Amino acid sequence: MEKLVISGGTPLHGTIPISGAKNAALPLMCTCLLTEDKVTLENLPRLADITTLTDLLNHLGVTVTIEGGRGGMLTGRSLTFDAHTINDTVAPYDIVRKMRASILVLGPLVARMGEATVSLPGGCAIGNRPIDLHLKALEALGAKIEMEQGYVRATAAGGLKGGRVRFPFVSVGATENILMAAALAKGTTTIENAAREPEIVDLAKCLNAMGARITGAGHETITVEGVEKLHGCTHAVMPDRIEAGSYAVAALMTRGDLLLEGAKADDMQATLDTLTEAGGIVSVEDGSVRVKANGHVQGFNVVTQPFPGFATDMQAQFMALACVADGASVITEAIFENRFMHVSELTRLGANITVKGSTATVRGTQKLKGAPVMATDLRASMGLALAGLVAAGETTVNRLYHLDRGYERLEEKLKAVGARIERMPG
Ligand code: EPU
Repeated sequence: MEKLVISGGTPLHGTIPISGAKNAALPLMCTCLLTEDKVTLENLPRLADITTLTDLLNHLGVTVTIEGGRGGMLTGRSLTFDAHTINDTVAPYDIVRKMRASILVLGPLVARMGEATVSLPGGCAIGNRPIDLHLKALEALGAKIEMEQGYVRATAAGGLKGGRVRFPFVSVGATENILMAAALAKGTTTIENAAREPEIVDLAKCLNAMGARITGAGHETITVEGVEKLHGCTHAVMPDRIEAGSYAVAALMTRGDLLLEGAKADDMQATLDTLTEAGGIVSVEDGSVRVKANGHVQGFNVVTQPFPGFATDMQAQFMALACVADGASVITEAIFENRFMHVSELTRLGANITVKGSTATVRGTQKLKGAPVMATDLRASMGLALAGLVAAGETTVNRLYHLDRGYERLEEKLKAVGARIERMPG
């Protein structure tokens, strides 16, 4: 198992190119299941989760080819997905257990094939994460749902039919699943209390380019007029707002100055507002975002919320920032019930954090000290890497595979702006 070894204390200066967004890319890859034509996705990040979903699509019969690749499998940034023939409608446990987002094949498969069987993803480190909303929404479109031996089976013999879906609370994945399914359903579907995340807008854009008739993406109510067939398209994946936000935190924490090339400020306003509240100077420059420090960092308060609120995927990184701020910060995690695993590891670096229920109070210190740490999820690992960038001495972040799920060429990008960071065998 590889690890990251970081020697903290260097301010980061320069430009970091922002990759395509993992959480946009995963649903976008599933759109290929809706058509016999080819779907080409540009600006795909090279990440473990993309490889896992490619394996699953391959298993279902999708052919994946690299456009303009630079060598081995999945090193290209443009991939073409050809689901002309789907020869299996079962997403097996062995692949689904590696990545919960595998559930996103359920909606498109049942819409096109009239049936789909997907292993139940189960809980994960950040919480219980049920899929009841996905299933209820598919039922509202006429699918029959059955559970058998750890698998969920959805069937719609005569095809899905448009219907009214009203989510009791916002779910990104359930909105994506139903958006894809409704695109091929007969009649009109309305999705109320839909997720408004930029990744939803990107997905709707791609589906519309394939011939879908979706309006309202990015708003609370989305309307989908089903069409009989979708065709292929070429679509560029949006820039990763969470990757950009993570490096923005690095700029402020290390008292540096980073240009996040390609980042879209509109997609990450809550992150940028909190950085400003913490004392950072944020500017939008020619299609990029620049974040620099202005002397000291001050405490701030955040509550995680669905978009356009403060993203849960930024919570661990901001907690690392709070650890080195002047004064106290209060951070409340309102989306996932168990997303504070980084707290005990940050404490090992000298942080002063008290957790009560879903709220963490962080009292800033200027003196984090390097130590070996490990995390059980992606964003928590990033929070620890950020702390390592400012801690005195050496920090080792173990279980690097978490970071490899969501940060493309992390150590390369950080090294290029002055960080002392190495990937080492475990
Ligand atoms: N929920 C249910 N039932 C459902 C679906 C969700 O109770 O059927 C709950 C979840 O347990 C959670 C809340 O609803 O408490 C919101 O979950 P959501 O469905 O929005 O999350 P997701 O679609 O599973 C995506 C991202 C996550 C990100 C969340 C929230 C992808 C592939 N994953 O997950 O990203 O944290 O939205 O914004 O898009 C990450 O990148 O590190 C990551 C975990």
